[in-house]
Amino acid sequence: MTLNPALRVVDLVRTYGSGDSSVRAVDHVSLDIAANQLTAIMGPSGSGKSTLMHCAAGLDRPDGGQVIIGDSEITALDDDALTLVRRDQISFVFQSFNLLPNMTAADNIRLPLRLAKKTVDEDWFASVVRMLDIEERLGHLPSEMSGGQQQRVAIARALITRPRVIFADEPTGALDQATSHTIMSFLRRSTEELSQTVVMVTHDPAASAWAHRIVELTDGRISDDRMAA
Ligand SMILES: Nc1ncnc2c1ncn2[C@@H]1O[C@H](COP(=O)(O)OP(=O)(O)O)[C@@H](O)[C@H]1O
Ligand SMILES: [Mg+2]
Repeated sequence: MTLNPALRVVDLVRTYGSGDSSVRAVDHVSLDIAANQLTAIMGPSGSGKSTLMHCAAGLDRPDGGQVIIGDSEITALDDDALTLVRRDQISFVFQSFNLLPNMTAADNIRLPLRLAKKTVDEDWFASVVRMLDIEERLGHLPSEMSGGQQQRVAIARALITRPRVIFADEPTGALDQATSHTIMSFLRRSTEELSQTVVMVTHDPAASAWAHRIVELTDGRISDDRMAA
């Protein structure tokens, strides 16, 4: 039992297809995610990692069970309410960075707030870019930055809205080992220095070594759940 979890998944089921050809991608998974921790979801290909994350982040609707983010049971919300929760309480970091190519780093970072018609807290912006060491890159376009720099900008964009949870899907999947190390150190520091909660899907043991907790999925079920040493 986790005290004040940032995210609760209760008896989640997600089945694709029907009849003989149906696949239960997530099979009665329950999981409490503690705030201010980096949690890694691991497991072999096809074990249900992406499906679990998509349901937890409100991108996909489960067939059964509940997802609770902060005070909102998102599985009980209609699409409009869910869109607002996704906008205000959730951020994503992708394997392929997904920055807008014709916008500077600074504009990419500010974009989620602009879309939500919210003002930028300049002190927070400064703390985030300082923590990620991208102050010198703010005027650059994505094409003028390395992969590691682009992913740092993407992490800043995820942090800028102070979301309840950042979901990261293979955030080091497109990076070399040394750069992955740097990116993981920043994700870990975001939990410790900025009180962020991060849930990361990865199959890379070097990445999950940075996590406070590692949850393993096998065939859509939790097969192991351990705190880091
Ligand atoms: N859109 C889909 N339609 C049908 N089956 C799917 C779909 N997405 C995933 N699956 C199946 O669900 C299972 C879990 O997939 P997934 O969540 O992508 O696993 P992972 O991310 O761990 O590789 C796999 O058997 C996969 O083939
Ligand atoms: Mg996947």
